[in-house]
Amino acid sequence: MRYAAITGWGMSVPERVLTNADLEKMVDTSDEWILSRTGIRERRMVGPDDSTTSLSVAAATQALERSGITASDLDLIVVATCTPDQFLVSEACLVQAELGGTAAAFDLGAACAGFVYALSTATQFIQAGLYDRVLVIGADTLTRFVDYSDRSTCILFGDGAGAVVLEATNEPRGTLSTVLGAHGEGYKHLYIPGWGAFVPESAGIFPEYRPFLQMNGREVFRFAVTAMGDAAVEAVERAGLEFGDIDMLIPHQANLRIIDAAARRLDLSMDKVWVNLDKYGNTSAASIPIALFEAEQAGKIKDGDNLVFVAFGGGLAWAASVIRWGGVPKHSDQPHVSETPVDEAVATAIGAERSS
Ligand code: ACO
Repeated sequence: MRYAAITGWGMSVPERVLTNADLEKMVDTSDEWILSRTGIRERRMVGPDDSTTSLSVAAATQALERSGITASDLDLIVVATCTPDQFLVSEACLVQAELGGTAAAFDLGAACAGFVYALSTATQFIQAGLYDRVLVIGADTLTRFVDYSDRSTCILFGDGAGAVVLEATNEPRGTLSTVLGAHGEGYKHLYIPGWGAFVPESAGIFPEYRPFLQMNGREVFRFAVTAMGDAAVEAVERAGLEFGDIDMLIPHQANLRIIDAAARRLDLSMDKVWVNLDKYGNTSAASIPIALFEAEQAGKIKDGDNLVFVAFGGGLAWAASVIRWGGVPKHSDQPHVSETPVDEAVATAIGAERSS
C-alpha cells in the first residue's frame, strides 16, 4: 500500500498588519465586537509588491528545504487558491516559474476548503503510483477583494500561503481518510460576483470595476457549524479511529465559535485544537497549512500523531482528512519561526463560553 507522507512544510504571510484598532477607524465596529464574535485580533494584508505568487513561493521554498528535495525533484505542483494572480496561466505555473523544474502543475478551486481538497487530490496521484513527490500549496490574497466599507466582511480576512511536500512511502503516514462535499446551490452565500470570465451585461460593470466579496454571514455560519462537525466525525470513522485517538485538530481558521463547535463534535478539549486566527484572521486556503506549520514549530505534533484537518468555504464546500504525522526532516538548518501558543485570552474566552 502506498501512502503520501508530509515531509516538508512552510508558511508565509505579508508583513503589513491590520489590527482591530485599525478597523475601528475605518468602519463602525469595535475590538470587543470582533474579538467576541470571531476571535480575531489582527490579520496580515498584502502590500503593493506582494502577491499570491510571492507568498506561495516563500512557503514552498521552506517546505522544499525541510523535505530535503528541490523543485526539480517534484512530479506535480497543485495550488489551491481562489485568488490566483492570473487566470491564464495557472498559479501553479507562476510558482513553478520561480521555483524551477518541469513538474506537472495545476490549480484547484474550493475556496477555504481548497487545501484539504488539494491534499486529497495530490494523495490520489501518489497512491495510484503515478507520482512520488508532490508540492501542495494553499494560498490566498482575499484582502484584495474585500470592501473596507463593509463591516460584516472586512474584519474577517487576511492573506497568506502555506505549503507541504508529499512523498510516497509504504509506512501508514499522511492521509488516512478524506471526506469531501459541496452544496452548490448555496454559492451565493459567499462569492465574488464579477470575478471571472462571465459578467452579465445587466451588472453594468465597467472595465475598471473591482469586484468585492459578498457574504451572508449568518447562513455561512450555520452551514459551517454543521458541515465542519459532520465532516470531521466522518473522517475519523473512515480512518477506523476513535475520537480518543485524535491528537490534534487543525481546523480552517474562520471563526473561533465555529472551531469550538467542531472540537466539541470530536469531544476534544481546546488544548488539542490549534488556533491562530487571532493573529491572521481567515486566510482562506492558506489557513490549515499555516496552522499546521505553527503547531509543528511549537512542538505540539510528534511522529505518529493523528491529526484532523477540517475546512469549509465558498461553494459551499467542505473537506476533512485524518493525517498521520510522519516525515522526519532530513535537514537540521531549517528556517525557524518563534513558538506561538494559543492566545491565552482567546482560550479563556472559549472556556467561559463552554462552561456557561
Ligand atoms: N462590528 C459591529 N457590528 C457588526 C459587525 C461588525 N464588524 N458586523 C455585523 N455587525 C452587526 C450586524 O449589523 C448585526 O446588527 P443588527 O442586529 O442591528 O442587525 C449584529 O452585528 C449581528 O450580526 P450577525 O451577522 O448576526 O453577527 P454574527 O454573530 O453572525 O457574526 C460573523 C457575524 C462574524 C460574520 C459570523 O456570522 C461568521 O463568522 N460567519 C461565518 C463567516 C465565514 O466564516 N466566512 C468565511 C468562509 S470561508 C471562505 O470560503 C472565504
